Amino acid sequence: LAVDVSDASGTPIPKTFYGIFFEEINHAGAGGLWAELVSNRGFEAGGPNIPSNIDPWAIIGNELTIYVSTDRTSCFERNKLAVRLEVLCDSEGDNICPADGVGIYNPGFWGMNIEQGKKYKVIFYVRSTGAINLKVSLTDSSGVVKIASTDIKASASDVSNWTKVETLLEANQTNHNARLQFTTTSKGVIWLDQVSAMPTDTYKGHGFRSDLAQMVADIKPSFMRFPGGCFVEGEWLRNAFRWKETVGPWEERPGHFGDVWMYWTDDGLGYFEFLQLAEDLGTLPIWVFNNGISHNDEVDPSAILPFVQEALDGIEFARGDPTSKWGRFRAAMGHPEPFNLKYVAIGNEDCGKKNYQGNYLRFYNAIKSAYPDIQIISNCDASSRPLSHPADFYDYHVYTNANDMFSRAQVFKGASRDGGPKAFVSEYAVTGKDAGTGSLLAAIAEAGFLVGLEKNSDIVHMISYAPLFVNTNDRRWNPDAIVFNSFQSYGTPSYWVQRFFSESSGATLLNSSLQTTTSSLVASAISWQDSADQKNYIRIKVVNFGSTSVNLKISIGGLDLNSVGLGGATKTVLTSANVMDENSFSQPKKVAPMQSALQTAGKDMNVTLPPHSFSSFDILKI
Ligand code: AHR
Repeated sequence: LAVDVSDASGTPIPKTFYGIFFEEINHAGAGGLWAELVSNRGFEAGGPNIPSNIDPWAIIGNELTIYVSTDRTSCFERNKLAVRLEVLCDSEGDNICPADGVGIYNPGFWGMNIEQGKKYKVIFYVRSTGAINLKVSLTDSSGVVKIASTDIKASASDVSNWTKVETLLEANQTNHNARLQFTTTSKGVIWLDQVSAMPTDTYKGHGFRSDLAQMVADIKPSFMRFPGGCFVEGEWLRNAFRWKETVGPWEERPGHFGDVWMYWTDDGLGYFEFLQLAEDLGTLPIWVFNNGISHNDEVDPSAILPFVQEALDGIEFARGDPTSKWGRFRAAMGHPEPFNLKYVAIGNEDCGKKNYQGNYLRFYNAIKSAYPDIQIISNCDASSRPLSHPADFYDYHVYTNANDMFSRAQVFKGASRDGGPKAFVSEYAVTGKDAGTGSLLAAIAEAGFLVGLEKNSDIVHMISYAPLFVNTNDRRWNPDAIVFNSFQSYGTPSYWVQRFFSESSGATLLNSSLQTTTSSLVASAISWQDSADQKNYIRIKVVNFGSTSVNLKISIGGLDLNSVGLGGATKTVLTSANVMDENSFSQPKKVAPMQSALQTAGKDMNVTLPPHSFSSFDILKI
C-alpha cells in the first residue's frame, strides 16, 4: 500500500462526513435515550377513547377496595383523559384497606432503573372530592420493598381543582426493575394525570439518559438526522410524527401511536428536544419532515399547502427570531437563541410514490424562497441517474448482506460529478443472517463500504448508520448500533467501526494505492489534527474482508523529511475468533478495537492483517 502524504496529494473530506441517524424505533427514545421513567404518563395510550388503555399502569387492590377508570376531565385540552381512582376501603370501618394501601403503579418501560443515592423528580397532577393522603413511592417490582417514598397530604379545598405536585425522591438502594406507585388507605375519589419521574442527572441537564447520550457523543457525530425513518411517514398519515403536536409544555402534548414500529410515545422527546440534543452533541440537526405521504395514504399536490406551511413553521420554530410567531414559541420553551438548522429532508423513502415529485416541488420552492440557505435533501437516489428535480442532496439507503455491502465500496465511483446534488448515505447496515444482532462480519463489510465512501468524498458528503438504538425489550429491527436495557448498554461491532471513522469528518483524504491480487482488501488514508492534543496524525485504514491473514507492506511517500518526521505510531485492530461473534451485556467488548504500539513505524512498515479484520495505523507527524 503506497500512501502519499504530501500536501499536494490531499483533498478535503467534508466536515459533515460522519453523523448519526436517530429514529424513534425499538424504543430508542421513549424508554431509551429520553430519560422519562413513566410510560403512558397521561393515561392517553388508548387515544381519545373511553375507556382508554392505561397499560402499563396496573392496579394495586381488588374489586372490593378500589375501582379504576378513565374519564375526560383532565385540565389539559389536548389530552383530556385522566385516571380516576375510587377508593372503596378506608383506614377504619367495615372495609379496611390493606396496610400498604391501594392505588396504581407504573413499571416504566420494562422496569425503572433506580440507583442508590440518586434523586428522582416526580411530578403529577391531582384532583379529589375530599382531602388526600397519598403515598408516592419507588419500590421493587413487587411493590413490597420501598426504595424511596413521600406522603402527599392536602385538604379538600387544596385539591378540589387540578393541582400540580412536585417532589424529589432519593433512592436508598439500587433496583433495575423498579416501579412508581401511588397508594392510599383513605376512602374517596382521586384523579391523577400527567405523571412524570425523571432522574436529576440527565445529559447536560436536558432530559437525555446520560450513559446512552455519552455513547452517541463518543461517535463524535457531525450531524444528526431525525426523527425517522418510517416513524416520520407512519403506516397512515394520521399516525405520522407531526412536530406541532410534540412541542410546548410536556403536560400538554397529546402523544401519539407510531403505527410503523407499533408503540405509543408520550412525545416528551419532541421536536424541540431533538434540536436540543443535536446542540448538546455539537452536531448539525437534519430534520426529516412528513411530506404528505405515509406508507398507505398520500395527500395530493393540489392539497399539500397545509403540510408545506407546517414545514415552514417548523423551520421558523427552529431558527426564527424570537419575535416571530414560532421563534417566540421556541423562546418560551427556554431557547431564545435559534438552533442551527441548515438541512431538511422532504420525506423518507418516498421517491417512488405517486405524489412525491409533485409534493416535493411545492416544499422545495417554498423553503428555498423563504430560506435560500437551507440545504434540501431529496428521497430520490441519483447515484446512477440524474434527478428530475432540483436538490442539494440525494438520499441513498442500503440494507444488504455482507458481500454486497463490501462490494459497494465502489458504488459512487460512477456517480455524476456535474455540480449537481451530493450524496447523503443516510441509512446503511448489513442485515439478515450475516448480521445477526450485530456481528463482526457485518462490521467488517461496513468498514469496507465506508473506506470506499471516503475515497468518493468529493461526491458523498454525509453518512449515517441505521438504526442507532435498540431496547432489547422491543427489538423491531436488527441489527442496531447501540443495545440497551433499563440500565446497561453496549456497542455492536458496527458501533465501534463508526467510532473509528469519525476522525475523517473534516480531515484530508490522502492519495493511496493498493497493489494486491486479492479483492478482499480495501484501504484509505487521511491526515488530521486531533482536537484533544492539537497534534497532526496520519491514519491508514485497511479492511481485510477475506478469511486468511495478509501481510502488507505500507510505504509512506511524499514526506519532506527536512521539515516533517514520523513520531510514535499505534495500531488498532477490530477482529475476533469467529466472524459471527457479537457483543452482549455479559461480554460488551468481546468484539471491540484493540490498540497497541506499532513497533515497526516508519516510512516502510510490514504489517499483518488478521482474517476478517479492520485495522487502523495512526502515525504522529512531528
Ligand atoms: O432504519 C430502519 C428503517 O429502514 C427506516 O425507518 C426506514 O427509513 C428504512 O426503511
